[in-house]
This record gives sequence, C-alpha cells and structure tokens, in this order.
Amino acid sequence: MNKKLPIIIDTDPGIDDAVAIAVALFSEKLDVKLITTVAGNVSLEKVTMNTLKLLKFWNKKIPVAQGASEPLIRPSMDASNVHGNSGMDGYDFEDGDLSLLLKENAVEAMYKTIMSCEEKITIMPIGPLTNIALLLKVYPQVKKKIEEIVLMGGSTTRGNKGVMSEFNIAVDPEAAKIVFSSGVPIVMAGLDVGWKALVYPEDSAQIKTFNRTGDMLYSLFQHYRGRGLKNGLKMYDTCAVAYLLKPEMFEVAHTFVDIELVGALTAGTTVVDLKGYLKQTENAKVCVDIDQEMFKNWLLNALKKCI
Ligand code: RIB
Ligand code: CA
Repeated sequence: MNKKLPIIIDTDPGIDDAVAIAVALFSEKLDVKLITTVAGNVSLEKVTMNTLKLLKFWNKKIPVAQGASEPLIRPSMDASNVHGNSGMDGYDFEDGDLSLLLKENAVEAMYKTIMSCEEKITIMPIGPLTNIALLLKVYPQVKKKIEEIVLMGGSTTRGNKGVMSEFNIAVDPEAAKIVFSSGVPIVMAGLDVGWKALVYPEDSAQIKTFNRTGDMLYSLFQHYRGRGLKNGLKMYDTCAVAYLLKPEMFEVAHTFVDIELVGALTAGTTVVDLKGYLKQTENAKVCVDIDQEMFKNWLLNALKKCI
C-alpha cells in the first residue's frame, strides 16, 4: 500500500471547513499529523472549540494547537453571517476533548511537527494565512521540509468578501503576501473552483443517508447561509483536499501571484498574472477550473468513507 501523505490542516471551522476536515480524516491516503486553528469565520476560541467538537464527533485523537487570534496588522473580521454565531450552527455537538489541545501555540506545534517528520509535510491552510506567515517568518528553516502549501484562498477574478478579494486573503492580506513570496511551492484553490464545487439539495439529501457524518453535515447545510442550499452550497475548503486526493479534477495554471495591500478598494486581491505582464517567475499553481460532475461524485464517495 502506498505511504500516506503527511499533512497539517490550518483551519477556521466553519461549515465548509468541517466537510474538508471530514474528507481528510477519513481518506486512506492522508496522515493528518496536526490541526492548527486560526481566527477567521468566527473567533479563535470558537474555531478551536469547533475543531475539538468535530474530533470528538469522529473520536479522532489528532493534536490541536491554537494560533493567531487576529490578523497580523488589520482589524479582525468574521463570517458569522455565513456560518452562524457559533461558526457551525445547525448541529448540537458534544463538547470537545480538551486533552487534545496542545500547550504549544500553532507556530511552535507546526515547527516541531514539520522538523520531526521524516518526510516533507504538506500544509493545507483553509482559513486566513496568519499562522502560516508567522511560521515562515519565525522558523524559515521549515521551508525545505514543506512539500507544498495547498491552500483555499484567492481568486483570479472577483471576490466574495470584497469586490475583488476572497475572504481568507481579505482577512489578512499581509500574511498572504508573506506566504506567496516565501518560495515554498503553493497550490491556490480559489473562488474560480470554489464557486463550482457545489452541493445541491438533492446531493445534501443523499449525503444525509450515508452515515452519522452525513446526517450532521446535512444539518449544518441547512444553516450555511450565502446564497442558500437551493442555489448550491459552495464547498470552498474541500477544493483544497480534493486537489491533494484527485488533482486531475482541476485545470491548473502555473503563474505568478501577488497580493494587493494598498488599494483603498482592492486590498486583499490576489493578482494572478495569467498573461505574464509582470514578467515575474511563477510562484504558484492556480486552480482555474474544475470538473463539476467529477467533484460531486468524488465528494459523495469520500463522505461515504466517514462514520
Ligand atoms: O472564501 C471562502 C473561505 O472563507 C473558506 O475557507 C470559508 O471557510 C471561509 O473561511
Ligand atoms: Ca475556512
């Protein structure tokens, strides 16, 4: 049997984070070494408790480390209007197992996990990039031990938080700039694919029947606001784990990406130079399209593997 890919998930659950974490934890191809939390959809405390609740739900003993409670420079913003006040409204979870919560902060925990792992580790950020930026600045020696950073974030076109900015990047553009200019191989799964990675009511009704996880996700989906279930719920974060497990699902452009920091109206924009106007060396593989039918079938099969 092929060796499992060692990964760290950095997350801000978040209903779509919960789907991505479920798929990752029950995939036979991934070895989730650590889950780190970052303020994003809701506060650091809430996303951390949500992470522990999910692990309790699945009885998975994965170490969890708390990271940044706010962006590097800018004031905090959240997405409780989309995910509910708790960040995972719609299901009455048991309290999480606090014994999984490490004393170390996310940066220390990621550093120790990466440096102690025999193979290179893949990092899968599915929230704002604050923790990852701090890691790369405090411990630049980890760069040679990171296989790649496969992140949900950004857009080659318009935004979902700002006119031109996607939420994870918009929350902490300075952190994103540090990550994209780090020299570490990056895969960007942004809105171009997230907007097409949809769960419709008929899909959600099927998912409900699979197992406890499907039943729980169905309940969360009823509260996942945005444009609502009937228009298709966007499985943004699952695109990152989908790339890890089935990259052939995506059309990918090898290009240069930078982050707008100073635009009064455009801060947080991922400037994706698909035409090479900036004459910069490529620094990212950007997912520019997704096979929607393949994604849906893959997601349903992946969720059937959960408990
Ligand atoms: O723009 C979508 C991203 O913002 C997802 O990670 C979602 O969970 C929210 O954090
Ligand atoms: Ca997220």
